[in-house]
Amino acid sequence: MKTLIAASILNSDFGHLEDEIRAAEKAGIDWVHLDIMDGHFVPNISFGPHIISVVRTITDLPLDAHLMISDPDTFIPAFADAGVDYISVHIENNAHIHRTLQSIHAHQCKAGIVLNPGTPIESIYPVLSLVDYILVMSVNPGFGGQEFIPQTAERIRLLAEKIKHENLTIPIEIDGGINATTAKIATDSGAQILVSGSYIFKNKEGIQFAVESLR
Ligand code: DX5
Ligand code: ZN
Repeated sequence: MKTLIAASILNSDFGHLEDEIRAAEKAGIDWVHLDIMDGHFVPNISFGPHIISVVRTITDLPLDAHLMISDPDTFIPAFADAGVDYISVHIENNAHIHRTLQSIHAHQCKAGIVLNPGTPIESIYPVLSLVDYILVMSVNPGFGGQEFIPQTAERIRLLAEKIKHENLTIPIEIDGGINATTAKIATDSGAQILVSGSYIFKNKEGIQFAVESLR
């Protein structure tokens, strides 16, 4: 599988969201990554289904919703209706993770499972055969612009090994502090989908340069 670049709009200029997304699309990104925060699961609030339905009118690229919310089950239908293609949910604090993943599939979306940096990778083994992708956080979620946690590389390597050992094909996405240097570390470890936010949208050399240098 070719490496995919998912641009996180969290730190983009929301006053010019359409221009930002168009520029990123022109630069060759593969997905748009949408960081959904509720002020409970993470100490920040971002945006919800309404903004996503606006993004849906701007681009035909796959929309990848990363739910950092305490009660994903209640909102899965709204995100599906807003037009997302991928929905990922955290393993932490979810007492009924099978139900959540089934609900995502029932709404015709691909389902991803997310691991925070401090969560043992073994915690997702029971749901490996139920997910379409795995998102490994390389920062503690809540904000863009944080520094890549180096231990993430080894976690991805071990997960990739486990997936292979189980004869499964599950792409690993990495999220947090991804720039041209950490992108190389991530792909060398076995990540196939790179989420990058600030590096793309706050790059002094521009969006085009940022995406090309990630490639
Ligand atoms: C963090 C979010 C990330 C973040 C990535 O809570 O899940 O997607 O926006 O932003 P950068 O690339 O700036 O770390
Ligand atoms: Zn994210």
